Amino acid sequence: MRQYRFMEFSTRPATLDDAPAIHQLIAAEERSWHGQVEAVPDAVAADLRRPLIKLELDTRVATAPNGDLAGWVWVHGGRHAKIDVHPSYAGLGLGTQLLDWAEARAREIGTDWLAQIVDDSDQAGTDMLRSRGYEVLATNWLLERPTAPQSPAPPGIRLDAYDPARSHEVHELIEQAFAPFQPRAKSYDEWAELTVARSTFLPQASTLAYADDQLVGAVIALDGDEGYVEQLAVQADQRNKGIARAMLDRTCAEFLRNGRTTCILWTHSGTGALAMYERLGMRVRRSTTVYRTQL
Ligand SMILES: CC(C)(COP(=O)(O)OP(=O)(O)OC[C@H]1O[C@@H](n2cnc3c(N)ncnc32)[C@H](O)[C@@H]1OP(=O)(O)O)[C@@H](O)C(=O)NCCC(=O)NCCS
Repeated sequence: MRQYRFMEFSTRPATLDDAPAIHQLIAAEERSWHGQVEAVPDAVAADLRRPLIKLELDTRVATAPNGDLAGWVWVHGGRHAKIDVHPSYAGLGLGTQLLDWAEARAREIGTDWLAQIVDDSDQAGTDMLRSRGYEVLATNWLLERPTAPQSPAPPGIRLDAYDPARSHEVHELIEQAFAPFQPRAKSYDEWAELTVARSTFLPQASTLAYADDQLVGAVIALDGDEGYVEQLAVQADQRNKGIARAMLDRTCAEFLRNGRTTCILWTHSGTGALAMYERLGMRVRRSTTVYRTQL
């Protein structure tokens, strides 16, 4: 049995009511590492509602003796874990305890590997995973650009705000564009919970691109302290015509109208889209690393 050096934390499954407090915990981590908060406020709620998550079995929150939320862990599909420890409770062994729990849960589900994303400024988290033999699998970059007035769309392309009447087409277009990078397809309902059904979803700042009346591109925009692009995709046979550039410009112009002076988004090294975003004037603000271990 592993020995811990920590104070007595009590653990229990998370409930949806914990989502705001977990967001605050993540915000405290981001402030301690970066001096600002980039997490979109309803992201935790969206994660806890994912269809593969059974809160009783796949989540734990850890509370300190004074009742503070000190950490939490989430295991998605037995393959992806998320662990966050509040900076006030760092260095007490809680991260190790939560990682043990995540690995045990993944083994119980019967998966052969477990991945997790660690902020590159999180030295303790990085050291913990490396010391346990986790290997680097991929990089995520947080990109930023200033918002600016809109530029013209390419010839033959019409841009407009999100239209709920086209929601199933938007889901299909995005799923097809991301299919090469995703282990499994998301149903409409699963996709909607992560995007258009969120409380932070901005239909006016989201952009759809049409060639005649055919949907050929989509940007899903969310609101945070900054304008946040959750997804961007162009239909395969319509690429390299400037559609992504024009959609991002329109979305950024809408963010500016909402008073947001920067636009941010995450991109994964597996998609190969970093070079495109750099051509669109985006710059890397910071990065996270995806670590993986065999179980
Ligand atoms: C990435 C994607 C959105 C690009 O759409 P697109 O409409 O073809 O992009 P654009 O035509 O507007 O290209 C914008 C600029 O990026 C460049 N570019 C486009 N794809 C690129 C790539 N894969 N690598 C490097 N540069 C690229 C273009 O040459 C263009 O630069 P320029 O204007 O200086 O010539 C599209 O390929 C796609 O949907 N991919 C699958 C989903 C995805 O990866 N989404 C983004 C990841 S988060």
